[in-house]
Amino acid sequence: MTDLTPSQTALIAQLRALCGHANVLTHADPGADLSPWEQDWRKRVKGRALAVVRPGNTQEVAAVVKACAAASTPIVPQGGNTGLVVGGVPNGSGNQIVLSMTRMNAVRAIDPANLTITVEAGCVLQNLQTAAGNAGFLFPLSLGAEGSCTIGGNLGTNAGGTQVVRYGNTRELCLGLEVVTAQGKVWHGLTGLRKDNTGYDLRNLMIGSEGTLGIITAATMKLYPQPAAQLTAWAAVPSMEAAVQLLGLAHQRLGPGLTGFEVMGQFALSLVDKHYPQLRVPLWQETPWCVLLENSDSESESHARGQFEALLEAALEAGCVTDAVVAENLTQAKGLWHIRESITLAQVQEGLNIKHDISIPVSLIPAFVAETDALLALEVPGVRMVDFGHLGDGNLHYNVQAPEGADEKAFLRECEDKINTLVFDQVKRFGGSISAEHGVGEQKVNKLPLYKDPTALAMMRAVKKALDPQNLLNPGRVLG
Ligand code: FAD
Ligand code: MLT
Ligand code: ZN
Repeated sequence: MTDLTPSQTALIAQLRALCGHANVLTHADPGADLSPWEQDWRKRVKGRALAVVRPGNTQEVAAVVKACAAASTPIVPQGGNTGLVVGGVPNGSGNQIVLSMTRMNAVRAIDPANLTITVEAGCVLQNLQTAAGNAGFLFPLSLGAEGSCTIGGNLGTNAGGTQVVRYGNTRELCLGLEVVTAQGKVWHGLTGLRKDNTGYDLRNLMIGSEGTLGIITAATMKLYPQPAAQLTAWAAVPSMEAAVQLLGLAHQRLGPGLTGFEVMGQFALSLVDKHYPQLRVPLWQETPWCVLLENSDSESESHARGQFEALLEAALEAGCVTDAVVAENLTQAKGLWHIRESITLAQVQEGLNIKHDISIPVSLIPAFVAETDALLALEVPGVRMVDFGHLGDGNLHYNVQAPEGADEKAFLRECEDKINTLVFDQVKRFGGSISAEHGVGEQKVNKLPLYKDPTALAMMRAVKKALDPQNLLNPGRVLG
């Protein structure tokens, strides 16, 4: 630890006394490799941590925060480190502590009558889904990273995923939080209440704050009855207008049964076909867009199938679907969802790219895509659009891959900023948001002031100053 200041050395000794020697990792440890905590998922940034601290309970988190506050040492909360906007890894200074929440992963309680489950922040989303399932309930949050992201990270980013059209974002699924403040105090807010009008909504302030306002240590989440049947269909649609028309029909005919509505562009699916041919992507060669629909039914499988077949017949007749397959069983359904969830990885296999997670009103998406595609083609000829996402929520991953054969690093260096500006200007023109689900992190921190209402931004800064006056919690993220 020769390159550490005496106060940093003292802080590390103090943290080891609080959490146990083995739960405080530093670069000076024999054979130390902190890269899993320092490298972001997209491999866009590699930071350097002063230490990785892995507390085992809420009291330890509070004591760590107090010690860091006394030493003016910034803290970067981290869950599964699957975030896509460089929000959960340290910067390159070597002065920040990564507070990894993964040891705090217990399911604390299930209350079947209240339809709630209380879990610690480091609980992996898939384990939460399984715990709910074992108790006979559904926890509906679902995303491609569910095998490694944590509920603390989901709350920190207000994650979306593929079931939002019916159940809402993570925010809508949360009833209570336990949070350690920037001063190391514990807010005991795990109420499980569905109604509470006693002042400002601190829960919703914390959710989506990306670790900049407090450290979420536990959460009480909503549970739902498991559906009697869940059916999945894959439809070829001739245009984005047709996809929006199909969404309208699906809402009309399935009502609350519509639990998933994802759109996937031909080039996005071609990447899955190219990099994962064993997944056997259906219908993609004959159509510009495919749609994945899910119908969750509280009656029976035959009722669900009847509804789905009627919907698809009506859509074929209206011309908004040209061909479709309905999964015969759960294995086939999982296979179709696996194709959809593999787009992100196929895009990584294809090479460096520019990611967007924009939202605009569903009705305007066809015009947005047509106009913005044309503008991009003029600005950077040959760019390839990897479009897919949660059309049911008006949230599109409008991603841009370098032209075929281009030098990808040069593409990012020369084009990333101008492409982001072009896309975000269009999003603003169409009344949308530059981030529907991944958040601001470090990646969009310079763009936020250009696209966020200035009064809203000023209120955000005031809140940050009030709750974290020393700017110790995830500095440089969300607000620069
Ligand atoms: P991390 O990456 O560790 O952290 C994310 C942010 O939350 C950071 O700012 C961090 O400081 C903060 N944070 C973490 N834990 C806490 C805590 N306990 N208290 C306070 N702040 C905390 N996102 C979607 O919204 N929808 C998707 O469909 C989706 N699909 C994905 C698919 C893939 C293959 C991948 C790799 C990512 C995907 N993501 C998606 C992004 C990512 O999985 C989510 O943002 C997820 O919520 C991050 O959880 P995490 O535990 O990995 O958090
Ligand atoms: C998704 O919907 O698959 C995710 O948000 C991940 C991505 O944007 O690649
Ligand atoms: Zn998404």
